[in-house]
Amino acid sequence: MIMVMSRFEQGPGRPTLPPPHPRRYRLVVGTPFVSRLERFASVPSTQPIIRGWLDAGTPEVAIAVADEQTAGRGRLGRAWTAPAGAALLASAGFRPADLPAGQAWRLAATLSLAMLDAAEDVAGLRDGTLGLKWPNDIVADGPDGLLRKVAGVLGEASLDDDRVRTAVVGIGVNADWPAELFPADLAPSMTSLRELSGGRPIDRDALLDAWLDRLEPRYEALRLGRFDAGGWSTRQRTTGHTVEVDGAQGRVTAEAVGVDPETGALVLTGQDGAVRRIDTGDVTRCRVVALPGRLPR
Ligand code: BTN
Repeated sequence: MIMVMSRFEQGPGRPTLPPPHPRRYRLVVGTPFVSRLERFASVPSTQPIIRGWLDAGTPEVAIAVADEQTAGRGRLGRAWTAPAGAALLASAGFRPADLPAGQAWRLAATLSLAMLDAAEDVAGLRDGTLGLKWPNDIVADGPDGLLRKVAGVLGEASLDDDRVRTAVVGIGVNADWPAELFPADLAPSMTSLRELSGGRPIDRDALLDAWLDRLEPRYEALRLGRFDAGGWSTRQRTTGHTVEVDGAQGRVTAEAVGVDPETGALVLTGQDGAVRRIDTGDVTRCRVVALPGRLPR
């Protein structure tokens, strides 16, 4: 979800680790895709670092990566935690030239799609092992057939009238995180690339590199007004399942029949067959509660 930030925090000063990838070039000859990339050993959160850079005039695309966050931020004001070195924790700063505010969610979706492809590649997973849980969580099937979270995305934008002026999009990927270190309360609903690849160590720098490789053409396309609607729609693992959605209008339990790539909405049908569209901004929780042919638990 992209949220408007009313107040911007300042990021801490200096990077504590050398940048993993000092040079990258935009497809347009001569302009770097990544204008600034810094890597930190431990910070409260990479989000305010990028917000501080953007507010100070740093051009897009700015990337901050941390080995550890002491006050990591999730969606809807939740905390985001991971042991040091277990996750790829990155925030990216954008100045999209002409992105309507109503399409700000496409930035988060674009980052997520780029990461999904990169993660399957770097972890050596079969195509389709990973999917999206609407709107942009990266998930995999658990042994019980229900979805387990591998990565989450947090978007925070500042708007100028009806356009996105700047946006900070953060992604946290459970990369090299062994199952024995999963927190007990999250273990049933999460997994990591390491576990999905049968316990193989996951190189977070290689994942970062693979992500930026895939992000560049996807973001260039978005700048030209093209969004991968097909990829975003077909990757949705919610589609065809019964979902429970909590939002402004209370709880809705219905079948997810698809997503709307124009608005970013989740499309549901109730038992009466009526079609209902749920906007990302209205939702506090979306959970798959039953697979086809199975009863909700
Ligand atoms: C979610 O709730 O699913 C979104 C989690 C986003 C976490 C990432 S980790 C890097 C960046 N810094 C933060 O504090 N949060 C995001």
